[in-house]
Amino acid sequence: MPDTDGTIGTAHAVAHPSLAIAKYWGKADRGINIPATTSVAVTLEALRSRTTVRTRARDAGQRREHDIVTLDGVEQDSRRFRSFFDRIRERMSVSLLFESESLNDFPTAAGLASSASGFAALAAACVGALGGQLDPSALSALARIGSGSAARSVFGGFTRWEAGAEAAVQLQYETWWPDLRVVILPVSGAAKPLSSRDAMNRCRDTSPYFPAWIEDAPGLAAEVEAAVQARDLERMGTAAGQSYLRMFATMFSSIPPIIYWLPESLAIIRELATLRAQGIPAWETMDAGPQVKVFTDRDNAPRIVETFQPILAEPAIVSTVGPGVTVSPR
Ligand code: PMV
Repeated sequence: MPDTDGTIGTAHAVAHPSLAIAKYWGKADRGINIPATTSVAVTLEALRSRTTVRTRARDAGQRREHDIVTLDGVEQDSRRFRSFFDRIRERMSVSLLFESESLNDFPTAAGLASSASGFAALAAACVGALGGQLDPSALSALARIGSGSAARSVFGGFTRWEAGAEAAVQLQYETWWPDLRVVILPVSGAAKPLSSRDAMNRCRDTSPYFPAWIEDAPGLAAEVEAAVQARDLERMGTAAGQSYLRMFATMFSSIPPIIYWLPESLAIIRELATLRAQGIPAWETMDAGPQVKVFTDRDNAPRIVETFQPILAEPAIVSTVGPGVTVSPR
């Protein structure tokens, strides 16, 4: 029975971003958001997306006859979400409309993987509001339709998303590496100028280095995975550095070139090399934005924060390894 306001079901979900250690960069020719490279990632405890979804019947009186998406208090263009919601309706065999409200506790669309946690939370809340239950693999495949990296955010701990796969898999639980820290260094709070989707496609279409990236990526993903399984920070950090820099090589060599980096990003990269030469275990990675994320350990995280805070746009965030998406009725 619908509530007096027309709501049929409600659910609330919380998800954390998935930070790729070996990067997904490039889509396969078939399907929606099927990766051309295998990625290996860690879910970040310290950042979260919270989403509440209500379902409504299509003929619910005065209400608008389309899905409604609000992100951080701002209503989004629901056409962008159409295929995502359609896929959920199809999968769950319903024709209801969705109304979602999401809050990120970190800058949205600035290369902090807000789309990963955002779509993982949205997929889980939609399914929950329909009173349904999906196994994590089916949920991962649904979340992927909204944003590829969301396939990984469904899971906690460490994940692998294989090239060509519809869903990610969990490699290890969040308790696997208690000493690992990821220090997030936000050098800018501004939204990214180019979406990762457009950037990936431009790299594929115009960078002469893109085929080499695709050829090279599986070896790096395997190296990162072996390092995670061995909890070997130096080995993981070294491979992570190769992965993100080779990904950026495809961006720098695109036409026109894609340069997400800011001067502060490069200053951090250079200073980290100096710190490593002094024996500090700290290796950076970056995504489709100017922020730098540093893999380090519990003892050294405070020093990384102290070193870089003066040049940051917002406070640095220290994260442990986080859990997968959780859903509750509300
Ligand atoms: O799935 P998207 O559109 O958020 O793309 C993710 C791309 C990177 O963050 C750069 C790499 C990754 O594997 O998360």
